[in-house]
Amino acid sequence: MSMRRKIRIAPSILSADFADFGREIRAIEDQGADWVHVDVMDGHFVPNLTFGPPAVAAFRKHVRTVMDVHLMIAPVDPWIDAYARAGADILTAHVEAGPHIHRTLQAIRGAGMKAGVALNPGTPAEAVEHLLDLTDLICVMTVNPGFGGQKFIDMSAKVRRLRAMIGDRPVHVEIDGGMDPVTAPLMVAAGADVLVAGSAVFKGGSVDNPGVYGANIRAIRAAAEGAAGA
Ligand code: DX5
Ligand code: ZN
Repeated sequence: MSMRRKIRIAPSILSADFADFGREIRAIEDQGADWVHVDVMDGHFVPNLTFGPPAVAAFRKHVRTVMDVHLMIAPVDPWIDAYARAGADILTAHVEAGPHIHRTLQAIRGAGMKAGVALNPGTPAEAVEHLLDLTDLICVMTVNPGFGGQKFIDMSAKVRRLRAMIGDRPVHVEIDGGMDPVTAPLMVAAGADVLVAGSAVFKGGSVDNPGVYGANIRAIRAAAEGAAGA
């Protein structure tokens, strides 16, 4: 089946200047970002620590597009309302973060957000088979979560399997980790439509030289759209 999907580029502010998030967010949006990807890490589910609800609420004031919040935390459920209040549009929880992901996705939607579910590289597509009607987005990790700048792990087969399972449901397939103009087209050809990119967007640029962000975003988008029409 040949189907042209709209490609969305979601820069991860994990690669931004942590002392200047407001200007960094405005810079990537001015330079063509479709969504802003926010990586929340707890130093427990993943071996790194970033920020929590008050910081995410502060980011919200600068986001004019879509705030896509990726929780790499366990447990998730006690924090759902705090991220709703912080203004997340999409809240993504890992299927590996606890025994009750079904309940978690219901609670995320119940709190008024779009619900995402993320899969680590070692987790099979079938882990979300019974969640497809509860989710708006499936995030396929193409690195082991925790850090930006890691080497891409090819999950094409998983993405193809997910697209077949999703059928005609309105579910985004997002790819997170190691996305650049070489790797992004592989994942789009397999069925992805949202591409998270940290280092490949921010490399070489700054808030004082934001045109580099724009060039980096356009390079990923052009490569990805070449695969989307195939
Ligand atoms: C990894 C995060 C990613 C990360 C991607 O744990 O979930 O969003 O920032 O960074 P790059 O694009 O540098 O692999
Ligand atoms: Zn992420």
